[in-house]
Amino acid sequence: MRALAEYGIDAYGIEASRPMITIGLTARAKLPPEIRRNIHFCIGDMRSFSFEIQFPLIIIPFHSFWSNMNRAEAEQCVRCILDVLTPAGVFLVDTPTLNDEFLLGSKYDWWVETAEKFKFSFRMERYTKPDGARLGEILVSQKNSP
Ligand SMILES: C[S@@+](CC[C@H](N)C(=O)[O-])C[C@H]1O[C@@H](n2cnc3c(N)ncnc32)[C@H](O)[C@@H]1O
Repeated sequence: MRALAEYGIDAYGIEASRPMITIGLTARAKLPPEIRRNIHFCIGDMRSFSFEIQFPLIIIPFHSFWSNMNRAEAEQCVRCILDVLTPAGVFLVDTPTLNDEFLLGSKYDWWVETAEKFKFSFRMERYTKPDGARLGEILVSQKNSP
């Protein structure tokens, strides 16, 4: 959020844990006012949220997507994301196939089925360290045009 805020972008973060929000507020308080004012925290649940505004970019960072959601809850999360994404908006999910090898069925296949159901397209992209070493994978998705 800080990196976005430093570019002058208004960034909203949803977090379920009040102690984590407190940590964020403490960190935000140390930033210069012109950056601080771009950072907004919301206590909420990514399986069930809505906003009165729409966003051109939604990011689920830090392996958070599968960390405590089953597939039905993950589907609810995607539904909420698509509801608040602008028509040409993009959503990014860090580590979209977390722990795939330990589960029955592939999370990649889950993304294929979910994209078909909710009418969005996606691609998986690897991201690397500056020296080219592999760091992880990110899902880059966009709603299909009507
Ligand atoms: C990797 S940490 C990220 C911490 C912090 N939000 C940040 O961006 O630096 C994952 C966070 O997801 C939060 N979380 C877990 N389930 C959630 C849910 N259903 N809705 C919103 N936040 C959730 C946890 O409280 C945890 O702090």
